[in-house]
Amino acid sequence: MSAATAEMRLVHTRDEVRRAVRGVRARGRTVALVPTMGYLHEGHLSLVDRARETADFVAMSIFVNPLQFGPTEDLARYPRDLERDLEMARGRGVDLVFAPSAAEMYPHGEPQVSVIPGALAERMEGAIRPGHFRGVLTVVAKLFGIFQPDVAVFGQKDFQQAALIRRMADDLDLGVRVEVAPIVREPDGLAMSSRNVYLSPDERERARALSRGLERGRALFAAGERDAEALRASLGSALAVPGVEAEYAEVVDALTLEPVARAAPGTVLLVAARVGRTRLIDNAVLD
Ligand code: PAF
Repeated sequence: MSAATAEMRLVHTRDEVRRAVRGVRARGRTVALVPTMGYLHEGHLSLVDRARETADFVAMSIFVNPLQFGPTEDLARYPRDLERDLEMARGRGVDLVFAPSAAEMYPHGEPQVSVIPGALAERMEGAIRPGHFRGVLTVVAKLFGIFQPDVAVFGQKDFQQAALIRRMADDLDLGVRVEVAPIVREPDGLAMSSRNVYLSPDERERARALSRGLERGRALFAAGERDAEALRASLGSALAVPGVEAEYAEVVDALTLEPVARAAPGTVLLVAARVGRTRLIDNAVLD
């Protein structure tokens, strides 16, 4: 079922998803899932393209998951526009969109059983956003249970999240192949994010410090710099600009997410900063 042959379906309940997926499987077709929180941009749509390359039927979930937001975070103001999302998903050939309510996803309220991550979640985002990854992994495990997809596609921009989801699928034998698609950037380098809409024109300009820092780190590495401390210092100085409040600048191993002493191909540079009231994250894998 592709955009050319069928209409995109919009469903709101888990039962509707199960019935739809059963029908797809009965016809011998494979299923890919692209989990999102909506307010789609080209980054999300690139995940759809990747899903389309790997499976016959492409489903997308759109759900702003309250469980992954801390009490002082932006759950209430997180941007939402389902009509616009549906149009974009339809335009990119998504076969089915699942847009549940919170009551549909959490019918018993706060789940009594959830996915508790280990050491991979302790640093960076996990340290700054306590409970965030428990919320992410729990909703993703639920989505995997509802869709039972062959493959699920996530964005590299949330590098730590993708590493944790991959590890969860493996550690819990969930039978889902986790794919990670490259970051999509604005022409000036800013990584695409639904939260970019919060930025004023002035903040938008300052936000370039993150991608600029990563570019500088990559250039240093390409020029032969292997001392991780020097790369960390370079990221830190790129973030030290007025109006940008750095949260972390890390040089880590791609699998363990532990800081390294020496950088090598595959090492990851990760940055996080607040620009005004907006938290931004970005990363680059050294090659
Ligand atoms: O990356 C996101 O948009 C969310 O964390 C995800 C994976 C859809 C879970 O709510």
